[in-house]
Amino acid sequence: MLSHVTTTLCVLVSLATAHFSIEYPEMRGDSFATGASQYIYPCANVNQTANTNRTIWPLTGGSLNLDLHHPWTYVFINLGLGTDYPSLNISLTPEFLNATGNGTLCLPEVKIPASVNVKDGQNATLQVVTLGETGSALYNCADITFSSKGATLDGDKCKTNGVTVAAIKQQVNGSSTTSSPSSTESGANPSSTKASAAVSGREANSMLVAGAVAGMGAVVVSWLL
Ligand SMILES: *[C@@H]1O[C@H](CO)[C@@H](O)[C@H](O)[C@H]1NC(C)=O
Ligand SMILES: *[C@@H]1O[C@H](CO)[C@@H](O)[C@H](O)[C@H]1NC(C)=O
Ligand SMILES: *[C@@H]1O[C@H](CO)[C@@H](O)[C@H](O)[C@H]1NC(C)=O
Ligand SMILES: *[C@@H]1O[C@H](CO)[C@@H](O)[C@H](O)[C@H]1NC(C)=O
Ligand SMILES: *[C@@H]1O[C@H](CO)[C@@H](O)[C@H](O)[C@H]1NC(C)=O
Ligand SMILES: *[C@@H]1O[C@H](CO)[C@@H](O)[C@H](O)[C@H]1NC(C)=O
Ligand SMILES: *[C@@H]1O[C@H](CO)[C@@H](O)[C@H](O)[C@H]1NC(C)=O
Repeated sequence: MLSHVTTTLCVLVSLATAHFSIEYPEMRGDSFATGASQYIYPCANVNQTANTNRTIWPLTGGSLNLDLHHPWTYVFINLGLGTDYPSLNISLTPEFLNATGNGTLCLPEVKIPASVNVKDGQNATLQVVTLGETGSALYNCADITFSSKGATLDGDKCKTNGVTVAAIKQQVNGSSTTSSPSSTESGANPSSTKASAAVSGREANSMLVAGAVAGMGAVVVSWLL
């Protein structure tokens, strides 16, 4: 009986802590609602409805604020151009992120690759994927409209708290090229780098993750195109 209760508690705790949310731009809808599940690709089974709100995003890329509850997780960000359930086939994280900790991770500017032609007024969907140790992924989406009037979040609205992040760089034949993490965490280890080569090999862009401001680790992500 006691062990049953304990097991149930553990399951509840892990359910509660394993999920994440997009704080900005506005999530498509509640991925904790009945009928939704963050385990369901591509957007947690959250449907686009008349109530779906679109956040204005700058043409060159915008801010992304995540609420994370994992001890650590890999974070991928994908983009789909279009209005209704677009194909989420543009990677915004050729070097995906390893986020460690429990709290908020705000990326001030997630850049749109120069090769992607984004028009003023273009609708799109952002998909955020987190992937943990077991290999099971969680999904959430946010619908946006690109606009020349869009702006990135001000620094005071885009704070990283309790989370440190490092970009997992593509490896050159076994030698690590992980960029400096914004924390004391060291970079890629050999086991992780296989995954990075497999997943991030599609673009040669270089991403710089730097930061570590005043302990909490403000994170600046910029792309060197
Ligand atoms: C979204 O639509 C599908 C198919 O109609 C449905 O099964 C699912 O429950 C809906 N999701 C939510 C959160 O209502
Ligand atoms: C969209 O925004 C309105 C106004 O803030 C809010 O009432 C509504 O719940 C939002 N829609 C969704 C799907 O969250
Ligand atoms: C993404 O999918 C859309 C629709 O299927 C397609 O038109 C577009 O070429 C694809 N883009 C990339 C980068 O694969
Ligand atoms: C994350 O932080 C929140 C708020 O401080 C806390 O309630 C929760 O238990 C923490 N979760 C983990 C996995 O540390
Ligand atoms: C963008 O999406 C909104 C609904 O969210 C729609 O009303 C509008 O027509 C779409 N714009 C374009 C250019 O497709
Ligand atoms: C990778 O390194 C191994 C051992 O140093 C070498 O034999 C191999 O040729 C290298 N492969 C490439 C593609 O450089
Ligand atoms: C990601 O972060 C976790 C926790 O800090 C660490 O154990 C893991 O090795 C990191 N992965 C990579 C590829 O750096």
